Amino acid sequence: MGRRASPSRPRLVVATLNPAKARELASLLGDIPFEVVGLSTIPGAALPPEGDDSYRANALAKARAAARLSGAVALADDSGLEVDALGGRPGVRSARYGGAGLSDADRCAALLAELRGVPRERRTARFRCMVALASPDGREEVVEGIVEGVITDAPRGTGGFGYDPVFFYPPLGRTFAELDPALKNRVSHRGKALALAQEALKRWVS
Ligand code: IMP
Repeated sequence: MGRRASPSRPRLVVATLNPAKARELASLLGDIPFEVVGLSTIPGAALPPEGDDSYRANALAKARAAARLSGAVALADDSGLEVDALGGRPGVRSARYGGAGLSDADRCAALLAELRGVPRERRTARFRCMVALASPDGREEVVEGIVEGVITDAPRGTGGFGYDPVFFYPPLGRTFAELDPALKNRVSHRGKALALAQEALKRWVS
């Protein structure tokens, strides 16, 4: 994961089968006293499907499954976009909002259509990310990161993924899709949650 493997470091399994996401999470974790590996490196690995109850339950279920499969400390995340004018939707269903088979651009368009006519002051929203840590012997910790923003009237920017083109971040005056990835990571829900996870992991080994 871009970090030299060291036999003296315990392994930390990142509970995603997507190698790109595993790499991103590893780089966001920064310097930790673990050798970070993706779940795809473990033969036969599978994860429970995400449910509709809570980010916390989804993240914990994935972390527990990965810890069980690997025998190592595991980290999992779950995240979503909460729009105030929609009572917090799409929330935990963000990846599935609008129906199956839609592209990110389709989902952004569906969200803008649902918010048509809603004035800017009522277009407030936040990204939320929960990161769960689980060890094979049952130790668990969940941390959270939040970033507040406003849903735009139209998509802007070409970077990022998901709802980034419609998520305007007022302190920088740009949408997340207009931010340099390193800058987005510094202010994002995921960046904040992983900074807290880094602190937790340092406590776990101390
Ligand atoms: P998951 O945490 O991988 O389940 O992602 C949940 C969904 O929330 C994603 O598919 C995106 O639609 C949305 N989402 C979460 N984080 C971000 C982000 O940083 N930018 C844009 N969309 C996001």
